[in-house]
Amino acid sequence: MTPPPAGSLLVATDLRKAYGPTTALDGAGFSIHPGEVVAVMGPSGSGKSTLLHCLAGIVPPDSGSITYNGREMATMNDAQRSALRRSDFGFVFQFGQLVPELTCVENVALPLRLNGVSRKEAERTALSWMARLEVDDLARKRPGEVSGGQGQRVAVARALVTGPRVLFADEPTGALDSLNGERVMELLTEAARSTNAAVVLVTHEARVAAYSDREIVVRDGKSRDMERVI
Ligand SMILES: Nc1ncnc2c1ncn2[C@@H]1O[C@H](COP(=O)(O)OP(=O)(O)OP(=O)(O)O)[C@@H](O)[C@H]1O
Ligand SMILES: [Mg+2]
Repeated sequence: MTPPPAGSLLVATDLRKAYGPTTALDGAGFSIHPGEVVAVMGPSGSGKSTLLHCLAGIVPPDSGSITYNGREMATMNDAQRSALRRSDFGFVFQFGQLVPELTCVENVALPLRLNGVSRKEAERTALSWMARLEVDDLARKRPGEVSGGQGQRVAVARALVTGPRVLFADEPTGALDSLNGERVMELLTEAARSTNAAVVLVTHEARVAAYSDREIVVRDGKSRDMERVI
């Protein structure tokens, strides 16, 4: 890959990761600017989720460098990395990420509660995010009582409630029908752009990738920029 442009928020170079005999990443690179939405595409098993997990400090690469805000992640200890994830990163996955015993508003408020925000304040902020994602009317329902698309919008509200600098989304609409998927993508990118959060968006679907500013393709653990055909 060409060297990352100046002003990048998160930069990875020459990432390698093996699981036993399986090479998941084989020299992958990545960079993203504040506020940029980058789609990570590629076939099943090509290393997309592994790349996202490395970038987010969830999985350590075997070698290579990841810097966030100029700071090398490998030099941080586990506590520092999890503090960074809590303060600067948000996560949305394909499904099953809401706590079933909590109401939707309690789910969205949870990251703030874990950061020590009072219940009243946390739920007030949570509700304003739910309104932006058009699910505030579901506040008192439990995740089992809402549709898949509604649940994903609740999950996006929860990922954004702490004002993350980077939102990591792994197939966030993978379990939704196309209409619901499009709406979730519209609301997700709108909300992220309004707060200048960068978005790392893993997806199989070209339709979903169309919401991004830039696309990279991962193949056999290697990444490259994709020229967009207009
Ligand atoms: N925890 C793990 N243990 C062992 N092998 C793994 C693990 N995670 C991923 N792999 C392997 O690494 C390779 C890359 O997996 P990864 O999950 O990153 O692919 P992906 O591009 O996200 O695929 P998909 O589109 O199906 O989600 C695959 O061959 C996979 O089987
Ligand atoms: Mg995956």
